[in-house]
Formats: sequence, C-alpha cells, structure tokens
Amino acid sequence: MKTTNIESDAARFEALRAEADEHRQRHGCHAYVFEDGAGLLAAARAERPERILELGTAIGYTACLLASAEDRAQMDTIERDPDHVALARENLEAAGLAERVRVHHGDFFDVLADLPGPYDLAFFDGLVPSLSLIELLYERLKPNGLLICGNLCLAHGANQRLLDAEFATAERWHIDGHIENGATSLIRKTNGST
Ligand SMILES: C[S@@+](CC[C@H](N)C(=O)[O-])C[C@H]1O[C@@H](n2cnc3c(N)ncnc32)[C@H](O)[C@@H]1O
Repeated sequence: MKTTNIESDAARFEALRAEADEHRQRHGCHAYVFEDGAGLLAAARAERPERILELGTAIGYTACLLASAEDRAQMDTIERDPDHVALARENLEAAGLAERVRVHHGDFFDVLADLPGPYDLAFFDGLVPSLSLIELLYERLKPNGLLICGNLCLAHGANQRLLDAEFATAERWHIDGHIENGATSLIRKTNGST
C-alpha cells in the first residue's frame, strides 16, 4: 500500500480540479467538480482496488484521483457528454494514467450492459442516483466491495424512499461513513450471494 501523504498526493491534481471548475462555467454544463479530493483518494487507497468503476467522468479529475490511488488498478469510467469524454482522455494521457483508465462514451445504463465487473470499488458521481442504477452497481461489486455514492442528498420523493430502503437493507449494504462534508457516502456491499 502507498504510504505517502494523502493531502499532497491529492494536490497533484489541483490544477485539473480548477480547470474542471472553469470548464463548467464556460461550457454551461452541470459537471460540478467533486469537492473532497483528499477524502476520495483516502477512501480509494484504503481499498487497494484492482478494478474501479466510475459513473460521471466529466473532464477526468476524479478519474485521475481514483486511478492514482493504486498503481495496479484498472479503471472503467462512463460519461455521455462527448466534450467531456475528449477532455478526460486528454487529461488522463497528460497524467500518465491513460493506459489504466478506459473512458467509455455513453449513457450509464447502456455502457454498464457491457461492463459486468466484478469491481472492488464503484464511484457514483453522476447527478442523482436511482434505485435501478444502484442495483446495477450492487451486481457489479465484489462481496465487501465499496460503493462511494455522491448526491444521495439530492434524491427526493419516491426515489429517495426507495434508496433509503435499499441502503437500510443490512443483508446488502452497510454504511461505512461519509466524505465531502457528508455529501458523499461510503457504502459497503455486505453480501455477494444475491
Ligand atoms: C458531477 S459531474 C462528474 C464530476 C467528476 N466526477 C469530477 O469531479 O471530476 C457528473 C457527470 O456525469 C455525467 N452524466 C450524468 N448523467 C449521466 C448518464 N446518465 N450517463 C452518462 N453520463 C452522465 C455528466 O455529463 C457529468 O459530466
């Protein structure tokens, strides 16, 4: 396991984080950049993942963080906006991570049909998660794999109730903690038998 300082390792991608923020304002898109790079890197590094899945690449800031967490990790990341896909590929190349990270262009559901897993770590950072997407991620995670799930706090109405019930199912999930000031949850798959 890498033992270097998390804050300084995350700071390696600080310029890319700033670029992602500028990109959102220029592009007029909703690709809000993840706000806790060090927390994400620490959570990923603790897993020592061999295979990582990311939903919501934007221009590649969190993909760079996740791929840098573990030198042997192979990663798939999914993004539907073609401008984001092109920029993410460029940024991963510039960071020397392109060989280990495959950027898939398309909708989460369409691309996931061709990505059966299993993954040690999945990161959801698309807008608001739905139960059907979470079920697909559950199927793709290894037993005891970790789901890092952003934006659960943005779910409302029936979707929120379904997600609350899903993550309260102790045979399937266990909440390990939170990062990003509570906005992103660390949720462990507790059982691979269903
Ligand atoms: C919040 S941004 C991701 C930010 C990124 N993880 C970062 O901080 O580096 C969400 C991204 O998910 C993409 N996205 C949202 N819904 C999607 C879907 N259904 N399929 C594919 N991409 C989607 C958006 O185009 C956007 O770029």
